[in-house]
Amino acid sequence: MSQDDRKRTAALAAIELLESGMNLGVGTGSTVNHFIDALAGWRGRLGSVVSSSVDTTQRLAQLGIEVSELNDAGTLDLYVDGADEANAHLQLIKGGGGALTREKIIAEASRRFVCIIDDSKLVKVLGRFPLPVEVLPMARSLVARKLVAAKGRPAWREGFVTDNGNQILDVHHLDIVDPVALERDLNQIPGVVSVGLFARRPADLLLVADGSGVRQLKR
Ligand code: 5RP
Repeated sequence: MSQDDRKRTAALAAIELLESGMNLGVGTGSTVNHFIDALAGWRGRLGSVVSSSVDTTQRLAQLGIEVSELNDAGTLDLYVDGADEANAHLQLIKGGGGALTREKIIAEASRRFVCIIDDSKLVKVLGRFPLPVEVLPMARSLVARKLVAAKGRPAWREGFVTDNGNQILDVHHLDIVDPVALERDLNQIPGVVSVGLFARRPADLLLVADGSGVRQLKR
């Protein structure tokens, strides 16, 4: 089974969790795109649907699914999103697609966060995937210097502008043994908009697709 097939398998397992009238948050990325495709069958049956990126909003609109503002939707029942890495505590690295800030806001606004991944993304220690950090443009160099002092190796994602008009530093060579502490410390650097570490608010359920099916990891 290809990686894309495994992504689709995980996404279809999340479709099984939908209930009529639910307020739903929708993530961003190639795994979630499979989930969005399958949402076509739920058109008109959900409550408010909130999107984490311009790309996801466009995909939902193409299916005729109305997208609401989070400010109007209030608390969401379910948030479905992918990740770049996940550990056994359901802590995640996200933001490979650059949508980390809105994703983090939606995760916080949701009662239940279901993360869908293929098994290549399950790791013992987070940090093999470079940690995305969204920064205000004027603070990019300052934040980069602070990240070097924290033993990371930041690389500017040149040419990429987030949906919020900001820039991304991808931090290589981090061995993230205490994800909650690192998330807290990086959030303190002036100019950091958000950090792609989802440790303080991890997923509630991880659906991991491998060649033979979908494994569930719960908190
Ligand atoms: C986007 C994300 C995605 O969830 C993450 O990058 C995984 O993407 P994909 O499903 O394409 O592998 O955090 O900001």
